[in-house]
Amino acid sequence: MNGSLLEIENLSVSYRGEDGSVFTAASEVSLSLNRGESLCIVGESGSGKSSVAMSVPRLLPSPPAFWPQGRILFDGKDILAMSPKELRSVRARRIGVVFQDPIGSLSPLHRIGDQLAETLFLHCDVSRSAARATALEWLHKVGIPEPEQRLKAYPHELSGGMQQRVMIAMALMLGPDLIIADEPTTALDVTVQSQILSLMRSLVGKDSALLLITHDLGVVAKMASKLAVMKDGRVIETADDVSAFFANPSHPHSRALVAEARKMEL
Ligand SMILES: Nc1ncnc2c1ncn2[C@@H]1O[C@H](COP(=O)(O)OP(=O)(O)OP(=O)(O)O)[C@@H](O)[C@H]1O
Ligand SMILES: [Mg+2]
Repeated sequence: MNGSLLEIENLSVSYRGEDGSVFTAASEVSLSLNRGESLCIVGESGSGKSSVAMSVPRLLPSPPAFWPQGRILFDGKDILAMSPKELRSVRARRIGVVFQDPIGSLSPLHRIGDQLAETLFLHCDVSRSAARATALEWLHKVGIPEPEQRLKAYPHELSGGMQQRVMIAMALMLGPDLIIADEPTTALDVTVQSQILSLMRSLVGKDSALLLITHDLGVVAKMASKLAVMKDGRVIETADDVSAFFANPSHPHSRALVAEARKMEL
């Protein structure tokens, strides 16, 4: 048995339109990720990054999404073959997801503290008061100033950067083995982006793994221990050595992406 935490094997992701037409967003994708690693999937808009990443926690609405072929082995078990019950338990406890748009993922009607505490209360065997204490501890951990006051805030009362910090707390506090973050900093300004990335790097430990989706090679350079480049739904290049990739990308499209990113830096 191989020890990968996540093994995506020959996966295709398609969408069926209302007229019955089928569009294949990702084709024959194979990727693997171990504990202690950060895998960045990079590629231009529409290359299929989110289709692949969101297939892992099965967060793509199905229909229209379906998986014509392939397996997604999480700790050796195929997520695509799991029962709804198994899937719910894996999703809640073992896979944490950070979305691009935190405000869309937090409930506008409930205070931050209540949302965090409720998640803990639902999924862990803890009392309500212990859940509140842990929620407070996590607000502190993710760098929210005056966390006691912020517990009582509603999401819209926080800045975008702070909302994303809350989202990260929400994704990490149950101690998931795998964290999936889809463009977690794209909506934030550059300074806040860098703070959030540092925070994620510091919180993803040796026992967990990060699957990070980005179109930004600067983010890859900062975060990745390995990477995959997607284009038109296919993985066109993978690299286990990120500095070697930047020094010498092998696919012409990767070379163009790196050249473009260098130009933007100047
Ligand atoms: N629900 C859907 N129905 C039909 N097509 C879809 C659906 N969701 C995504 N697609 C298509 O699948 C392709 C890949 O989309 P995907 O969102 O995976 O790309 P991406 O690499 O994440 O892009 P971005 O960087 O813009 O987020 C696109 O052509 C997109 O239009
Ligand atoms: Mg996307």
